[in-house]
Amino acid sequence: MSPQYAHLLDRTVRYHEAGSGRTCILLHAFPLSADQWLPQLHRVPPGWRFVAPDVRGFRGVGQAYQDVGLETATMASHAADVLQLMNHLDVDRAVIGGLSMGGYIALAVARAAAGRLDGLVLADTKATADTPEGQAGRDAMIARVQAEGVAAIADVMLPKLLGATTQRGQPDLTEAVRTLILRNTPEAVASALGAMKTRPDSTPFLSGLACPALVICGDEDVLTPPADSDAMVAALPAATRVVIPHVGHLSNLEAPVAFNQALAEFLSRT
Ligand code: MLT
Repeated sequence: MSPQYAHLLDRTVRYHEAGSGRTCILLHAFPLSADQWLPQLHRVPPGWRFVAPDVRGFRGVGQAYQDVGLETATMASHAADVLQLMNHLDVDRAVIGGLSMGGYIALAVARAAAGRLDGLVLADTKATADTPEGQAGRDAMIARVQAEGVAAIADVMLPKLLGATTQRGQPDLTEAVRTLILRNTPEAVASALGAMKTRPDSTPFLSGLACPALVICGDEDVLTPPADSDAMVAALPAATRVVIPHVGHLSNLEAPVAFNQALAEFLSRT
């Protein structure tokens, strides 16, 4: 699938697009890229258009364009980027979906512009902010990526991103995810770590989110375990919960058939 490029005022956004009809935006996890959503982009349900942009700075290695504003990125600025892309594409309302970091951004979009949401998909993510220990871990990762590069981050993250069953049974997927990670620059990775570290707690805000929500989680997710999904489902007024068995944090890549089925079913009644 060939990417598209949106030339905005301050930067160029690379994104994938497939299907036609109502729009569903898909936001990727840390430290991947829009390519994470290829299994969904190849199976868009009828009547829907999927748009999957890179989060600012991602998929930067070897790209001709430069990203600005990485040092000051926050979840709120990433949400503003999503809204800016929607404006550019002439999309007033959309279903906003995100996996993990993408879910943090989806929640930030909901905080900033709930009226532009037809629905929310929160996959392997959580509403809470980083704990002080989590923030210290982010600082250590920023220092590490600056000193050792993105390969060191891939080594740290891969065993946590993929579930134990996937690591045993799908070795090719581990290598494919490593390749996605290595296409990112240290600057993008450090920027995302800083933005995740300072994200606010969205939990108090969930009860006011009236739009339909789909909360998906792999039962072997060790980064955002099913209890994090349970907490969001309990707080959201209109949430459907789907737990995918034998799957870790990257549920859309580890079990694309089950993920696509849950997403299509949700979209059909949204
Ligand atoms: C992700 O998958 O996006 C990250 O693991 C999220 C995080 O580190 O909080």
